[in-house]
Amino acid sequence: MSAIIEQARNLDGYRDSSELLQRRDQDWVLDRAGIQPQNLLDLGCGVGSLLEGALRRWPQLQEAWGIERSTLRLEQARAQLQALEWRVRLFEGDLLHLDELPQRFDLVTLTAVLHWLYPKEERLFAWVARHLAEDGVFLFTSHHPWREDGLGGEDELVAEALVDMGLAAADAVPRLYAEVGLIPMGTRTRDAAGLRERIQRYFCVDAVASREAVLQVEDAEAYQRFHAATFGTYFTPLVPAARHEEFFERLGRIAERRMRADGQVTSIPVSVWRCRPLGSDA
Ligand SMILES: C[S@@+](CC[C@H](N)C(=O)[O-])C[C@H]1O[C@@H](n2cnc3c(N)ncnc32)[C@H](O)[C@@H]1O
Repeated sequence: MSAIIEQARNLDGYRDSSELLQRRDQDWVLDRAGIQPQNLLDLGCGVGSLLEGALRRWPQLQEAWGIERSTLRLEQARAQLQALEWRVRLFEGDLLHLDELPQRFDLVTLTAVLHWLYPKEERLFAWVARHLAEDGVFLFTSHHPWREDGLGGEDELVAEALVDMGLAAADAVPRLYAEVGLIPMGTRTRDAAGLRERIQRYFCVDAVASREAVLQVEDAEAYQRFHAATFGTYFTPLVPAARHEEFFERLGRIAERRMRADGQVTSIPVSVWRCRPLGSDA
């Protein structure tokens, strides 16, 4: 098995690759807390970088909790946060099947995770609403690259690769997704109005700030590693097994081509939503 396929299977390398995109949003998100939290819960905490930033930012933070599904990422988070261990509590868990906790949190964060919970996000929203302190804040990010055909964001690179490989005509890509039962990223991320309607069933939305999340890479290999660490093998059902390695190579070349032509691989609107418990606007 090639190194890139092995990396994708393990979703490895996130600490390095997230510096290209997701990591850049974490300070921007924490800037919006507007409180001095005593405790924090980061949902889908990955390798623990937001927790680390929060512990550095708020010396009074007594407890920083993280919940993450990937065993490997949790191990990497534990190693990274070792020195701060007495304040950190990390748990392996599925955000859609969380047990009730005996305590509430001043601050709950969810960054670059929401689309992975589609279409059951509300299950987590309801859980967070039950675990947020009365004057607590819930901060989460969403990405809205949706297009008319249901594709968006990373789907566009994948579509180009599928066309280059002769696996689908450009207008037949959505059909290929449907045939293999794969939900496009553009569909997973919902549009802002649909998301607002759902979130307002559980929280009052205080503020939403948006900007562009621009991905730039040095070369084809760097993009392959980013894709493997972020999306793993999510898109490979679209490609015959014998051509998976070629698929990653194509993605890398497409990213490199985009860099040369536009100076960026993708640009996706990212928003941070600041939410308070229902009734706190009264
Ligand atoms: C793109 S990473 C974001 C990690 C981190 N929050 C950040 O901002 O860098 C998405 C993370 O969500 C986790 N995740 C996705 N679905 C999950 C679920 N149902 N339960 C727990 N974790 C989940 C993944 O394992 C992954 O670490």
